[in-house]
Amino acid sequence: MGPRSSARRLPLLTPPHQGGRAAMTCVYRCGNACSHPVPNTSDNPYLNDLIAQAVSRRSLLRAGVVATTAAGAVGALAAPAAADPWWHDHGHDDAPRGLRFEAVPPNTDDQVTVPSGYRPQVVIRWGDPILDGAPEFDPDAQTPETQAGQFGYNCDYLALLDAPWEWRRRVLVANHEYTDEELMFAGYDGDAPTREQVEIAWAAHGLSVVALDEDRRSGDLTPVVGHRLNRRITATTEFEVTGPAAGSELLKTSADPTGTVVLGTLNNCAGGTTPWGTILSGEENYNQYFANAESVTDPQARERLSRYGFGGGATQRKWEQFDQRFDIAAEPNEVNRFGWIVEIDPLDPDAKPRKRTALGRLKHEGGGPRLTRSGRVVVYMGDDERFDYFYKYVSDDKVRWGSSRWARRHNDTLLDEGTLYVAKFTGNSPAEEIDGSGELPSDGAFDGAGEWIPLASGDESFVEGMSADEVYVYTRLAADKVGATKMDRPEDVQPHPYTGTVYIALTNNSQRGTDGKPAADEANPRNSNKHGQVLEVMEEDNDPTSLEFGWRLLLVCGDPEDPATYFAGFPKDQVSPISCPDNVAFDPHGNLWISTDGNALGTHDGLFGVALEGQHRGQVKQFLTVPNGAETCGPIVEDRHVLVAVQHPGEVDGASVEEPASEWPDGPGSIVRPSVVNVTKEDCGRIGR
Ligand code: FEO
Ligand code: CA
Ligand code: CA
Repeated sequence: MGPRSSARRLPLLTPPHQGGRAAMTCVYRCGNACSHPVPNTSDNPYLNDLIAQAVSRRSLLRAGVVATTAAGAVGALAAPAAADPWWHDHGHDDAPRGLRFEAVPPNTDDQVTVPSGYRPQVVIRWGDPILDGAPEFDPDAQTPETQAGQFGYNCDYLALLDAPWEWRRRVLVANHEYTDEELMFAGYDGDAPTREQVEIAWAAHGLSVVALDEDRRSGDLTPVVGHRLNRRITATTEFEVTGPAAGSELLKTSADPTGTVVLGTLNNCAGGTTPWGTILSGEENYNQYFANAESVTDPQARERLSRYGFGGGATQRKWEQFDQRFDIAAEPNEVNRFGWIVEIDPLDPDAKPRKRTALGRLKHEGGGPRLTRSGRVVVYMGDDERFDYFYKYVSDDKVRWGSSRWARRHNDTLLDEGTLYVAKFTGNSPAEEIDGSGELPSDGAFDGAGEWIPLASGDESFVEGMSADEVYVYTRLAADKVGATKMDRPEDVQPHPYTGTVYIALTNNSQRGTDGKPAADEANPRNSNKHGQVLEVMEEDNDPTSLEFGWRLLLVCGDPEDPATYFAGFPKDQVSPISCPDNVAFDPHGNLWISTDGNALGTHDGLFGVALEGQHRGQVKQFLTVPNGAETCGPIVEDRHVLVAVQHPGEVDGASVEEPASEWPDGPGSIVRPSVVNVTKEDCGRIGR
């Protein structure tokens, strides 16, 4: 690799591809999904003229508080937000607990910018060693073996658990969604990748589990290299397929005639932490890794492939040249073995990772678990594609508490036996008031009712013309048949830990209301929707097993000066602009935190806190921004720590190792590295207090 000191920075003038994303992001992250036809061409109805009453929103559960403890931290690297009277004037001192900070102004700085009085610390970067014997990162000397012992690329979902029996030690779990070969390999030739580059990319996908030491005084979180819990899961790690579709004919391949053992997980995007301490991770845009869908001639097989976005010949990364399973013409069922929710147990390094077929095969963004009062588990899930759907899974059985082998073995079955549902949303305002402009209807709210339509339970299918196996493996087609509501890209979904209300980020949908595409409806009220919305679902009687729910939009995102925005009625001159909500999380006070991907307002992505209750409901405040080309992911907001994954920094059209668009986090002359950042208060105090 050439001397990095001579690297020059690309100007940031690339026009956005879709929303605010660079075309390079589209190529590497989702295989240009936004340039391809929308996979959902079904004619099931979208809500337009249905009028219904919102179901009861009474008896919201006040569940027990799940506050996490941690210490303060100090780091290097960041500049506090620049002084700006507009931002300083509003909502600082009288904001609710957890949100008392000076909002960071929108900016395009190549750094992590945090509020005055806060400092970011880089916890772990792509290539930092995790496993015993893994070397320090050297981009000129990467091999598949070194990468398999180091932190992977493009961190997305993050979970932070307490390490059992170890004082001030935490366990970080991170997804590694995809690889940016142009930014990883000097002199990369996309037409002729080498086997070594491809195998490094396989090892840079998947998940990392890494123990962290927490410095009591500074709050810094530092990886404990070689800790017994540290683990890498990659694109070649063995997974067990479980649940009702395990062993199905649709999952059998020449390498696995049992249909129960899959090598690897791909495009792991968001996730969730279960009440029994395991991690869920969504396999999202896996279609991009599989070549030669165009060679398939059987009409049914073609329909199934195209509904999941498979098409064309060679792939961008050309993995099919190095492992035949990535060639659909040679191994047609391998594609069916991706697109699942996977579950790993980060506290048991010997536990085999699972692919849970009972939760359906989608482009899973993530999974947000919640318990019923009796202890059954419900997982809410978004299928991130324009005009795709929102789902939930309800387990038959109840969680068993404790960490005994007996309890863990039981909880290992909870996501295998249950019922899968898809959501249908109905608005309560007259259809003519939902004109696609984003203007509020006369009742003052985008809101209504909804129903959960069952798809399958165990071996029983509820979808005419489809077997249960087919419902699980071709879940999108099953949902088409039952009339699910076509949404504006349902991304992360998380239930509020205290109220039970479920929050869904709908990131954007540039094709809403365009020629031949579904028009705006009350849940997706803007045509050519560039900025997205955040939706609240209130299950009937606050029972997550209910078949009916009420819903309303919390935010219709964008520039607050744009009349087609809505901030739950909060004065728009006192909110931060927000665009393309992607991940959602909660702080210990019950405020919602939203990270963005693809800010279509021309400034960098960021993390935002928003109050949900009382007079401040809808007040959005920006807490941080990320460097050039990056999206903000995986937010964790604790009492004294805010963690984010800075994903794909420097991912700007035309950028390469030689001509980087960002040199974050290590500064001039260094290769850009996706990393996890820990933000703490400089005085080690409590976040937002
Ligand atoms: Fe990987 Fe839907 O974001
Ligand atoms: Ca309404
Ligand atoms: Ca995402």
